[in-house]
Amino acid sequence: MENKVILITGANSGIGKATATALAEMGAHVVMMSRDMDRGEEARQEVISVSRNNQVDLMQCDLASLTDIRRFSCEFIAKYSRLDVLINNAGIYTDKRMETADGFEYQIGVNHLGPFLLTRLLIDLLKKSSPSRIINVASAAHFGGKMDFDDVQSHKKYSGWKAYAQAKLANILFTYELAHRLAGTGVTANCLHPGFVNSNFAVNRSTGKANLMMKLMKPFTIEPAEGAETSIYLAASPEVEGITGKYFAKRKEKASSKASYDLVTAEKLWNISEALTAK
Ligand SMILES: NC(=O)c1ccc[n+]([C@@H]2O[C@H](COP(=O)([O-])OP(=O)(O)OC[C@H]3O[C@@H](n4cnc5c(N)ncnc54)[C@H](OP(=O)(O)O)[C@@H]3O)[C@@H](O)[C@H]2O)c1
Repeated sequence: MENKVILITGANSGIGKATATALAEMGAHVVMMSRDMDRGEEARQEVISVSRNNQVDLMQCDLASLTDIRRFSCEFIAKYSRLDVLINNAGIYTDKRMETADGFEYQIGVNHLGPFLLTRLLIDLLKKSSPSRIINVASAAHFGGKMDFDDVQSHKKYSGWKAYAQAKLANILFTYELAHRLAGTGVTANCLHPGFVNSNFAVNRSTGKANLMMKLMKPFTIEPAEGAETSIYLAASPEVEGITGKYFAKRKEKASSKASYDLVTAEKLWNISEALTAK
């Protein structure tokens, strides 16, 4: 992976940090995105120390703010002349309905709309660096998801898991539509389920039922290094060169939910996401 520039969002914790470590060990120039510079710097030092690769950078961005994503993208494009792999890994679960800086329900905002805008702002750089790869970390939770276009921001009724499952379904619909729109450019787009991973997910910055459930389920989880394996495979393996528009788990191509293959829904989601992130 030498001379490859890889951007990983949410790289200060869990699966993102494990992915950053493994790709840095392979010699890649890793750019870790974190919303918090203190947590990010601590993780960057750990990644450098474990990987023995000094080419590990840290950049700040809060995916809950479209302004911040635009600022970040401008800075990234000014700093790096190429982008070989973009890993949209950051994600969050919240029991309570919260809103992003732009007034989006937090989970659709951070888990889908933020990465949607980020990817589109970096697409020219990815095309310039082709063959290049986009990897979206989705979840098997999408199997329970439904795009509720009448109330996509959960204004009328909020359920944390419903909002999470919808956002993760959006990750997959976005991946498939993106792959379709990028055909012939040399940029591939794939998504994945990492497994049930012992990370900070729904633990550190969440309260209530989800926090308790994650703690109870801990004995059944896999460690972040194992959870990162499919992201690493999609980022680095020659086996997936040219493969696009697919869903993976345990480094194998798998079928995603029936709803995720609905082309009309995918196009509708794209148009809504474009309009919402244009503000
Ligand atoms: N853990 C699982 O069992 C599991 C299963 C299926 C899918 N996933 C998916 O895997 C991905 C990684 O999760 P993880 O398990 O590694 O959880 P994690 O340890 O909580 O890591 C999530 C990362 O996302 C970052 N993040 C959250 N909100 C953000 C925002 N507004 N802007 C920028 N970054 C933000 C977090 O930053 P902070 O540290 O500042 O909060 C953290 O770096 C997520 O997309 C998640 O949906 C996880």
